[in-house]
Amino acid sequence: MIKNNQKQKIIIRPPKISDLDSSLEMINSLVEEKAMLTVQKKSTHKEEEKYLKGIIKEKEALHLFLIIDGKVAGSAKVSKLGNGRNHIGELGISLRREYRGMGLGKNLSKTIMEKAIKKFKLKIIILNVFKKNKTAYYLYKKLGFKEVGVIKGEVKYYNKYEDVITMVKYI
Ligand SMILES: CC(C)(COP(=O)(O)OP(=O)(O)OC[C@H]1O[C@@H](n2cnc3c(N)ncnc32)[C@H](O)[C@@H]1OP(=O)(O)O)[C@@H](O)C(=O)NCCC(=O)NCCS
Repeated sequence: MIKNNQKQKIIIRPPKISDLDSSLEMINSLVEEKAMLTVQKKSTHKEEEKYLKGIIKEKEALHLFLIIDGKVAGSAKVSKLGNGRNHIGELGISLRREYRGMGLGKNLSKTIMEKAIKKFKLKIIILNVFKKNKTAYYLYKKLGFKEVGVIKGEVKYYNKYEDVITMVKYI
């Protein structure tokens, strides 16, 4: 457990079905603020329930939630790529707006990477980030990721084609 100076109870743990309401709230708040993630459509209660049930039993990816005062404040996953790329994991992370800029993103990323490396015996971690997402880009650089390329206009994001950077970290 991490304690911050506001005496909030902060835990990093796998998702549970009881997280449904606050995980739905979190994903929809990210969509609402246009948080530079590929998801652009709000989820319904039913869709989130299906998603949550799916990630709880998923074997080829590790999911962790950042829980603050009992509610989902952040989410991270490392998915194993599979086939001849079982030694490669892909990292994704997001935090609710009010919990950014306090080091929690860095903490959650480090935690999930350490666990995923052990669990899946990873040798490489990759990720994709919108070129204009400077906070995420600098966080990944601080975590030791190196930029390996850009696909211009890779993702259509609210009617604009955004450039996407691929980054890699060798373990
Ligand atoms: C990206 C995200 C996960 C980062 O988490 P965070 O908690 O805000 O980031 P942290 O506070 O841990 O900061 C990470 C580091 O990046 C650095 N950083 C952030 N913005 C920076 C900038 N513009 N220039 C230089 N460094 C920067 C911080 O200084 C910090 O480094 P330090 O701890 O050595 O000082 C979070 O902002 C988020 O969820 N954003 C919306 C969703 C998203 O973009 N997800 C990523 C999709 S690829």
